[in-house]
Amino acid sequence: MKYSGYAYINTIGCQMNVYDSEKLASILRSYGFEKTEDMDKADIVVCNTCSIRHKAEEKAFSFLGRFAKIKTTRPHLILVMAGCVAQQEGKKAFARVPYLDIVLGTQAFSRFGQHIDAIKSGKQKVVDIKDSPMIYEALPDISCFDENKISKFVTIMQGCENFCTYCVVPYVRGRERSRSPQNIVEEITLLVEAGVKEITLLGQNVNSYGQKEGGISFPRLLARINDISGIQRIRFATSHPKDLSLELISAIRDLDKVCNHLHLPVQSGSNKILKKMNRGYTREKYLNRILDLKKECPDIALSTDIIVGFPSETREDFNDTMALLREIEFDSIFAFAYSDRSSAPAAKFSNQIDENEKKERLNILLELQEYYTQKKNKELVGRSVDVLVEGKSNKTREGFEKNRSNMEQMQGRSESNKIVHFPSPHVNIGDIIKIKIKNAYPHSLWGHPLGDFEYK
Ligand code: 5AD
Ligand code: SF4
Repeated sequence: MKYSGYAYINTIGCQMNVYDSEKLASILRSYGFEKTEDMDKADIVVCNTCSIRHKAEEKAFSFLGRFAKIKTTRPHLILVMAGCVAQQEGKKAFARVPYLDIVLGTQAFSRFGQHIDAIKSGKQKVVDIKDSPMIYEALPDISCFDENKISKFVTIMQGCENFCTYCVVPYVRGRERSRSPQNIVEEITLLVEAGVKEITLLGQNVNSYGQKEGGISFPRLLARINDISGIQRIRFATSHPKDLSLELISAIRDLDKVCNHLHLPVQSGSNKILKKMNRGYTREKYLNRILDLKKECPDIALSTDIIVGFPSETREDFNDTMALLREIEFDSIFAFAYSDRSSAPAAKFSNQIDENEKKERLNILLELQEYYTQKKNKELVGRSVDVLVEGKSNKTREGFEKNRSNMEQMQGRSESNKIVHFPSPHVNIGDIIKIKIKNAYPHSLWGHPLGDFEYK
């Protein structure tokens, strides 16, 4: 059916959820609902949820909790819980949010429209947490995109079968399935036609792309995407260290559009903990992979994910993680305190770590990394880097270009994914320009366009 009205989507969680929310927006649009940023105007509100950590899940329930009151004054508003928490909770979600209309699991998106029809025609509640063979074949409706969007996510595979013992993903996103290369290339071509310059390919373990289907490997998929004219940069996440192949390392080295940056989650530097996490590699194997990578791509930027306070992690295990950070010198890290998830096996492990202790370890780790992030940024001072211009800068440097009324303060990202601010009288969003780095700060770089002008 076709309706008319407005849809508000609240996205919590990872990049994959951002992509999924765009899919939901496309479906809603085809049913006549325009996207709005004004929740008060909305006829349908979707909360696309994340259950990776307790905090994300609570954020979803607290957002939906606000509708207890709103629904009394706007009873026709359709309230939807979508995504990972929806998949995990199913009809139990009604116990905490009784006024929910639709619980839409991670693989139920293609049936979203028919559930809206059911609610519109008087049905009280719908729960759909059924499996689907492939959820990502439909191409996006580019008219739903924000203007000036030059960077987009493209999910290339769904699910995960690695079963890391702390992680809910295999339970809430099902088994691993890859999209066909043709379908992915078609989507990226469409995005490029709409003005997109950079794409980030998403999957829980992109290194195993196509393996189950017997299709082309991930590095070969990268090569096919590299051939699409108009695309300027290719990024991808996430690589699992156990499957990082020499073929992928060569692809990063050889394919001109693939960024010189790798996100390779290590999770812990302790072999005991890695084993309990079921990660499938040792500290030594991880370090060797990094050596292989640095041999081929000496300037590559590295980032990682770390969990501190996993059950039975001693101070000694934690110190092994600290030592690994010192040894590798990552450009940046995402670090988390272990969060107990009842559907993941580690919830039943003995020797759970005290919350205060986890927080303390997290702070110690973040403080150490701050030093390396800044060190890596400082190493770029005096060098020139390619920057993809994203828009006007949200920061102003003190005393910056006061007398240059024709200067716009702009920002963009380096290949290593660092934010770079620079003044320019004449760049366009989506341009790639060479910026000479003048200053490095903990979370950004400042410079000026090469060959353009100098500032003091
Ligand atoms: N607790 C804390 N962090 C977690 N992650 C996944 N599950 C948990 C959990 N239960 C982290 C991992 C993963 C990132 C996306 O989230 O570091 O790489
Ligand atoms: Fe979770 Fe491990 Fe799969 Fe990543 S690889 S989604 S951490 S189970």
